Amino acid sequence: MSEHEREIPVEHEYDGIIEQDNRLPRWWLYTLYGAVAFAIVYWFQYEVLHASQTPELEYAAKVAESRAAEAERLKKLGVINNKSLTALALDSNTVDQGKTIFATNCASCHRADGSGLVGPNLTDKYWLHGGQPEQIFKTVRDGVQREGSVMPSWKHLGDEKVIAAVTFVMSIRNTNAPGKAPQGEPLPE
Ligand code: HEC
Repeated sequence: MSEHEREIPVEHEYDGIIEQDNRLPRWWLYTLYGAVAFAIVYWFQYEVLHASQTPELEYAAKVAESRAAEAERLKKLGVINNKSLTALALDSNTVDQGKTIFATNCASCHRADGSGLVGPNLTDKYWLHGGQPEQIFKTVRDGVQREGSVMPSWKHLGDEKVIAAVTFVMSIRNTNAPGKAPQGEPLPE
């Protein structure tokens, strides 16, 4: 058999480089078909049916779970300081509870979004009584005990609800909702 009579046809030749129309090896084809089949199943599972969570969602759920567990632990311990309040403010359940408490008890003077009415705007970086978590807790629990101030004490709600309200206030800090003009001193950066 001469060079030009072989079974596999030469499709192109350029500069002595020959492109031939070979059959693809079986293992290669089956790997391709397998990958396509896998992609379809995967796509349905994750993107269409949402039967499995994507790694991102799974991760977010795990983080939320561990923050919730930490929040439970801290609430049982009953320690109230900047560190514990900061950790509690990472737990979305606590912040959501605080949002409800805020809407019920505080919105009449601070508005539901905290932008201020009778009470100051809680979303700017200016604070009359300090914007650190412990300071906010003290203001909310004890109220502002000075002549002419109408900010009441919320001690009767109990620490857990006061803490939740504080975590909500922390969550709206520095969101700068348009509202009452700033009052007090800026929170140090
Ligand atoms: C009757 C109106 C009123 C209600 C209700 C009220 N506040 Fe206030 N709040 C004020 C006023 C007025 C001030 C400013 C206090 C001052 O210095 O005289 C204030 C101050 C504050 C401050 C301190 C702001 C700063 O700049 O330091 C925080 C925090 C706060 N309130 C949170 C709350 C929360 C949380 C609730 C609900 C649990 C609440 N307030 C309910 C009127 C109110």
